[in-house]
Order: sequence, then C-alpha cells, then structure tokens
Amino acid sequence: MLRTVILAAARSSRCEQFVATAPYTRDIVRRFVAGARTDDALRVTRALVQDGLAVTLDNLGEDTVTPEQATAVRDEYLNLLELLAAAGLTPATEVSVKLSALGQTFDEQLAYDHARAICVAADTAGTMVTLDMEDHTTTDSTLDILLKLREDHPSTGAVLQAYLRRTESDCRQLAGAGSRVRLCKGAYREPESVAYQSAHDVDRSYVRCLNILMSGAGYPMLATHDPRLIAIGEDRARWFDRGPDRFEFQMLYGIRPEEQARLVGDGYTVRTYVPYGDQWYGYLMRRLAERPANLAFFARALMHQ
Ligand code: FDA
Repeated sequence: MLRTVILAAARSSRCEQFVATAPYTRDIVRRFVAGARTDDALRVTRALVQDGLAVTLDNLGEDTVTPEQATAVRDEYLNLLELLAAAGLTPATEVSVKLSALGQTFDEQLAYDHARAICVAADTAGTMVTLDMEDHTTTDSTLDILLKLREDHPSTGAVLQAYLRRTESDCRQLAGAGSRVRLCKGAYREPESVAYQSAHDVDRSYVRCLNILMSGAGYPMLATHDPRLIAIGEDRARWFDRGPDRFEFQMLYGIRPEEQARLVGDGYTVRTYVPYGDQWYGYLMRRLAERPANLAFFARALMHQ
C-alpha cells in the first residue's frame, strides 16, 4: 500500500515541487545521488574505483518530451565518456542509459540513434553501455533496440526485471555467449496481469532467472541488495565455477556499502550504480518506495523544516 502511494507520488509534479524545495531534502538526496554535476560523478567514481569497486554511471533523467532534451542527454553521455577515459577511469566504469531519456516515448528511432552514438563513444573510451529497463510498456521496445545495438556493439548490456512474468523466458533468450544481463527485482508499479505482486513470488522468480543466467553462457550481473539472493548468487558462482571475470554483483550507490566492501574483499567483482544529475526526483522516490525505513528518515527531515 505504502509503496503504491510513493510510486504514485513519483509521477506527481506537485509532490516533486514540494520535495525539491524542502530545505532538508539535500541531505537525503546526497545519500543516493553523487551530485548534480559531471564533476560530482567523476569525484565519486574515483573514490569507489580506489576502493576496488567497478562503477556504472547514470545521468538522471527519464521521460524526456522534446528532441532537444533527448539530444542534451546524449551529449552529456558523450562528454562524460570522454572525461572518464581522460581520467583513466575506463574500463572500470561503464554507463547506464534510460532510453526514455533519449526520446523513446515519442520517437523510437531517435532513441536508437542516440543510444548508438553513446555506444560508439563508449567503444572509443574503452568501455560499455547498459540499457536500464523501465516500466513494462517499454520492455519490447527496449529489447528490440538492444538487439539492434548488439549487431555492432555486442557488449551492450540488458536489464531484466524478475517481477515480470515474462522474464524467465527473456532470460533464456538472452543467456547466450557474450550477453551481459543485469538481473534486478524491478522498481516500477506494475499490474498483476504482467507482474508478480508478492515479495515472495518476486524472490522466487529472481532465483529461477538467476539459475538460468548463471548456468548459461553469458555474463550475469546480479543487481540486488537482498542478503538471501546474494548468498544464492555466491553459491551458484561456486557451483558453475564462475570466477570474478565471469559474473558480477551490482548494488546502488548509498545502499549497503559495507556489503559491497565485503564482497570486494572476498574477491568478487562488484559494480556500484552511481546516479548523478539534477533530475533526481523519480529515482529518489523509487528508492524510498523500496524501504519504509528510508521513508521514516525522509519524513523526519521534512518535519524539521
Ligand atoms: P529488496 O528491495 O527486497 O531489498 C533487500 C534489502 O536490501 C533490504 O532489506 C535492505 O536491507 C536493502 N535495501 C534495498 N533497497 C534499499 C533502499 N532503497 N534503501 C536502503 N536499503 C535498501 N530496477 C528497474 O526496474 N530497472 C533498472 O534498470 C534497475 N537497475 C538497477 C541497477 C542496480 C545496480 C540495482 C542494484 C538495482 C536496479 N534496479 C532497477 C532496482 C531494483 O529493481 C530494485 O528495485 C532494488 O534493487 C531493490 O531490490 P533488492 O533486490 O535490493 O531487494
């Protein structure tokens, strides 16, 4: 119920206005977001890489509504990739891209063209791109664009969401050699017709999908903070003899940093997903929806204004 309300608020511009102008919001945002500027992203990335983590950088923004906005997002990624290469932060750092930020909702071809330009720039910089997955109405379009991009850029990563009923089948399709697949639970509000609704069913689906990917020929990227799923990932890595160059764990910036360090210490590849930019609202609301304790932290901060 609470999750549903918060995810509905994530789509409300009035709520966004309220949250964005609350004086104490900055501290909460800072916990999950590197900062507003490209420099902030580079600073945080440098520190994480020094700690032995790999990084994926996400320029925050979604649901772009004009071609000009979409082009500006593309240009930010091109600039970011140049700076990462110049700073010696590739290949440890890749980028994550939301197709809706590149114009997918109003012009799929434009989103593809921009994503391809980012893939070319990533090749030049010596690194890779992963396409984030958004709500289920975009899944087919995103996977179509992924397959087209992979014709010239086979390392382009996919994201699959365990809460969708279709995902086991998508995992089978995408478990082939060289295929990079990030498996997450899924962060959007989805109807029963397409998605499992209970946490238990989502977790069970995650394990089935994890088994398909870890026993396949691709490169699984297990994106979760869930201790039970991480333990199952470690178990399957031993079972299928996957060393640190054959799969990775992924977690979000600001969430369970001590567990990220523990896994690095145990010899695993761990990639931290680092968002940056000024359009943090939708991202922050999804993080709050995941965990009531975050909401209490947030409410306390608002009450102190
Ligand atoms: P779950 O939510 O059950 O959390 C398990 C435990 O982790 C909690 O008990 C808590 O200890 C900790 N935890 C989890 N979330 C927390 C939070 N917000 N704050 C504090 N602690 C928290 N989704 C999507 O739809 N499309 C995408 O492209 C991506 N991409 C992506 C990349 C990466 C690297 C990650 C880690 C996640 C995503 N996600 C995503 C988000 C994902 O779908 C999911 O919403 C979150 O990862 C939370 O699910 P968990 O698997 O962590 O389990």
